[in-house]
Formats: sequence, structure tokens, C-alpha cells
Amino acid sequence: DKRISIAIDGPAAAGKSTVAKRLAENLSYLYIDTGAMYRALTYRALQEGIDLNDEHQLLNILKDTYIELKPSEYGQLVFMNGEDVTNVIRQADVTNSVSIVAKHKLVREEMVARQRAFAQNGGVVMDGRDIGTHVLPNAEVKIFLKASVEERAKRRHAENLARGFESDLEKLKEEIAYRDKLDSEREIAPLKKAEDAIEIDTTSLSIDDVVKRIMEIVNERI
Ligand code: C5P
Repeated sequence: DKRISIAIDGPAAAGKSTVAKRLAENLSYLYIDTGAMYRALTYRALQEGIDLNDEHQLLNILKDTYIELKPSEYGQLVFMNGEDVTNVIRQADVTNSVSIVAKHKLVREEMVARQRAFAQNGGVVMDGRDIGTHVLPNAEVKIFLKASVEERAKRRHAENLARGFESDLEKLKEEIAYRDKLDSEREIAPLKKAEDAIEIDTTSLSIDDVVKRIMEIVNERI
């Protein structure tokens, strides 16, 4: 079998990371959560009180922000300059600011270079917003996952509660819709289905169903 690249894109909370992790596990591939990279930078920028609209300052801190994605028994761990930021980068302050950080051209160029380096030997499942369109335009398999805002908010709500985070369903709905709007309308590499991506609407599908569908597609191409 050849070790291919699999790109999973889609709007916020569409189940990308859950599905991508499962695929990576099945295939013994590397899972790369590109959203976690933008979140780690956002976390640090907030900590240091940097103006999130200042592209040059962001690039400056990014240059000495070392981001590691490490698989573990409990899923993927995210380290930022040696600090375990796996949980803090999911908190509301980061979530509601990350799209501002991610809109900048220079920030994206640096992130994309790192993402391509992670993927250079193939055997990766990478999830994000611009993987099929920009980061890995030659990925052998491209999937675009979508689901209604209501369904995505409900899933994220349940996830938050399970993690012991406070959660407000109506607020989540608004935040998810707003983040999608910023991510879809930005100038550089907006959220968009690649022309050759296969779209899967997960609104009424289980995770198992989605993983199964994608594994069938993958098995045709390895
Ligand atoms: O996937 P996740 O929800 O963790 O992504 C957080 C944010 O990071 C997105 O809302 C988007 O602003 C940004 N992002 C991006 N490009 C990617 C992955 C994430 O702009 N490839």
C-alpha cells in the first residue's frame, strides 16, 4: 500500500477532528490538527496582550512559537513551547479570537509551510479549512464535511459538558455561525470545498457511518 495524504476540511464543529483521528488510527497514519496550530498561536498572543490585528507582531511571536502535535492514548496532545496547551486552546476566549489571527497572510504562510513539512512523507490525515484547496492540493483523498449549524452546535454543546466546560447552546450556535462567516469570507485561503473534494453531509450520520464512507474511498486509492 502506498502512504497517501488525506485532507479533511469543513466548517467549525462538523466532526472533522473526531473523524480524522479515527481514520489516522485505522491506517496508522499521522493525524495533523491544523486548527490546533492557529489556536496555539492565538493562546500565546492573548497571553502576551498582542493586538490580534497586528500581522507583524503575530508573525514575530510565531517565529519563536514551537508547536508540537503528539499522539497519545487519550487522543492528540498539543504542546506550545513545551507547555501542554491541549485543553486551554479549546476555551471560549481562544475559540472566539482564532479566526482573527488566522486571517493574516504572513501567519498563514508560516503555518502552511509547517503543515507541509509535517506531511512531506505522506501517510497523513490533516484537518482544517484550506487543506484540500491550499495546503495539500495534491492530496489523494479530499473530503469536505458539513452539517447544519443546529446539529454542530448540539454536538459541541455535548462535548463541552462532557469535558466539564460551561456551555450555552444558543450562544454556541451564534459563535459557530460567526466563525464560519469570518473563515469563509476572509481574503486568504478561505473555507471552501476544493473542486475535487467529496462532500459528506454528516447531519444525520453517525461517526461510524462517516468513517466507513471515507475508508471505502481511501481503500480505492491506496
Ligand atoms: O478546526 P478548529 O475549529 O480548531 O479551527 C480553529 C480556527 O482556526 C478556525 O475557525 C479558523 O479560523 C482557523 N483555521 C484556519 N485554517 C485551517 C485550520 C483552522 O484558518 N487550516
